[in-house]
Amino acid sequence: MQPTVSLTQDQIDFYHQNGYLALPSITSADEVAWLRGIYDRLFESRAGRERGDQFDLGGADEEGKAAVLPQILTPVRYAPELKEGLFRVNALQVARQLLGPDVIPQGEHAIFKPPRYGAPTPWHQDEAYWGEQMLYNSFSMWIPLQEATLENGCMQFIPGSHRGEIVPHHSIGHDVRVHGLEMDLPPDASKAVACPTPAGGCTIHQNRTMHYAGPNRSDVPRRALIIGFGIKPIPYSGPPRDFYWNKMKQTAREERAKAATATTKNPT
Ligand code: NI
Repeated sequence: MQPTVSLTQDQIDFYHQNGYLALPSITSADEVAWLRGIYDRLFESRAGRERGDQFDLGGADEEGKAAVLPQILTPVRYAPELKEGLFRVNALQVARQLLGPDVIPQGEHAIFKPPRYGAPTPWHQDEAYWGEQMLYNSFSMWIPLQEATLENGCMQFIPGSHRGEIVPHHSIGHDVRVHGLEMDLPPDASKAVACPTPAGGCTIHQNRTMHYAGPNRSDVPRRALIIGFGIKPIPYSGPPRDFYWNKMKQTAREERAKAATATTKNPT
């Protein structure tokens, strides 16, 4: 399959200048419908729950309680057909244009915002979730599977924030049972740029870009598929840093992941 998207030099420059970029189309309408079917099936069947791959990003993730921000890590593990597709071919083309020929895929996930009560994704920098020992040059491509609007929680960015350091974060609501992180000090909201995006379009943000997505106040689910790309990380050699907020976490997701790994290693 050949890519159907190619960035202009202006778009490439915009990304490096601002740390984000919005594209009107990364895949076809037919493929969006196909992706939506897979997506709904994975959430409805609670795929990955036992392994800790499906959990509530915004809550304590207790059994029997509706998740406010359900997330699935590595959905392709539960739907191998996601390995194919125009969105992937185009995403790789965009990644090569933004970061060069050595770019590699770096993780993917799906975030579902249920209608009317889907929680906001608070202001954060993605690198705050990762190890402080490594230096990253990567981006996440966020693909909504329906139109993303201010009402249902489209992405918002602080232009230029990718040039700063990682600021202190904490678990959402200062609850260490919650996987999701938020910045201790939210940025000046007047500097935020909201990016309403058509279904099958995308936004792209760098690993340090401050970003936020509002709650879903609409009557329809807000589905987003997120795929990451980057240059292979190198050891971090900047000023000392400590992402202590990750060491404080005690999430049910991690417990399930650990239990699943233990079972795999010791099948008895
Ligand atoms: Ni993020």
